Amino acid sequence: MKEKVYTEYGSPDVLQLKEVAKPVPTDDEILIKIHAVSVIRSDWEGLIGKPLYARFGGLFKPLRQILGSDIAGRVERAGRNNQQFQPGDEVFGDILVHMGGFAEYVCVRGKTLALKPANLTFEEAAAIPQAGVIALQGIRDKGQVQPGQKVLINGAGGGAGIFALQLAKLYGAEVTGVDNTGKLDFMRSLGADHVMDYTCEDFTKNGQQYDLILDVVAHRSVFAYQRALRPNGSYFAVGGSIATMFQILLLGAWIRRSTGKKLRILAVQPNLRDLAFITELCEARKVVPVIDRRYSLSEVPEALRYLGEGHAKGKIVITVEQNGKS
Ligand SMILES: NC(=O)c1ccc[n+]([C@@H]2O[C@H](COP(=O)([O-])OP(=O)(O)OC[C@H]3O[C@@H](n4cnc5c(N)ncnc54)[C@H](OP(=O)(O)O)[C@@H]3O)[C@@H](O)[C@H]2O)c1
Repeated sequence: MKEKVYTEYGSPDVLQLKEVAKPVPTDDEILIKIHAVSVIRSDWEGLIGKPLYARFGGLFKPLRQILGSDIAGRVERAGRNNQQFQPGDEVFGDILVHMGGFAEYVCVRGKTLALKPANLTFEEAAAIPQAGVIALQGIRDKGQVQPGQKVLINGAGGGAGIFALQLAKLYGAEVTGVDNTGKLDFMRSLGADHVMDYTCEDFTKNGQQYDLILDVVAHRSVFAYQRALRPNGSYFAVGGSIATMFQILLLGAWIRRSTGKKLRILAVQPNLRDLAFITELCEARKVVPVIDRRYSLSEVPEALRYLGEGHAKGKIVITVEQNGKS
């Protein structure tokens, strides 16, 4: 089988397409023939080794040499202890702990996988897991968004952002989406009431305040973020700079005591219940897992470059060839 391997942190050029033996599942695993895998920011961060948390487990060299974690495919074999799935089942989910999705096959335990709904394509299913669950936990659970609240999503045109934006609208909020110049119309098309271009406007400096800020690219000081919150407002950092994360950990509780404003890191807990919830919304087309571009397995470097250079509107998906066909 073919897989995309890297042995050092670097640009997409360090990725190589390798021909290796098809993996054999252990008694506890299932062998999945991958049909689609989405490219996520965590793949880019794992490739370049930045921010520092992306080197968790492999400070100088990547611990896992095959990236790709949001997969959709068909079970080809099930180990004898695996009662959950049968050969032929169509499955999807987030295998972040294991990785290995940029390949034709992967063996996993299957605890983080669910049956793929028949009315979603493999590509759509692969676009949902990590981004959808981040957004759900940020908007519904931690954010507890109520109708009429003012919500700002920083990075709203990217993978998690498109789900967060649509969910916040669904929960009745007035939503501001922040992203680059090329994504303003795109965010409007997803329902954003207001859009802001981060390349020419800083949302922490324009005097506006929000009930909730969900930030997938946190990089400012905690004082800037608390300035942009209404009294009792909440800010959640999902991804971003280590410096900002440390500031939140060090000063978040103190800011809350002195101002009533909450600044926290959103530690996402992947789980099948939340995956099912967001997937049902996608099936009902209340939330759309927008796919900007599709690439083949051999084009994983181009796909990562497109995401890393800041062009991706929503999700990027790798369609894995089946019997020589895409
Ligand atoms: N907390 C947790 O438990 C947890 C779990 C899993 C993943 N994560 C993290 O969650 C993040 C998920 O991000 P994602 O998949 O949504 O990434 P993404 O698809 O790359 O989207 C990020 C968006 O933010 C935009 N952006 C870049 N710089 C910006 C700025 N200064 N201001 C506003 N927008 C900006 C990007 O636009 P450009 O195109 O201009 O760059 C892009 O549209 C990753 O950092 C990942 O590591 C966290």
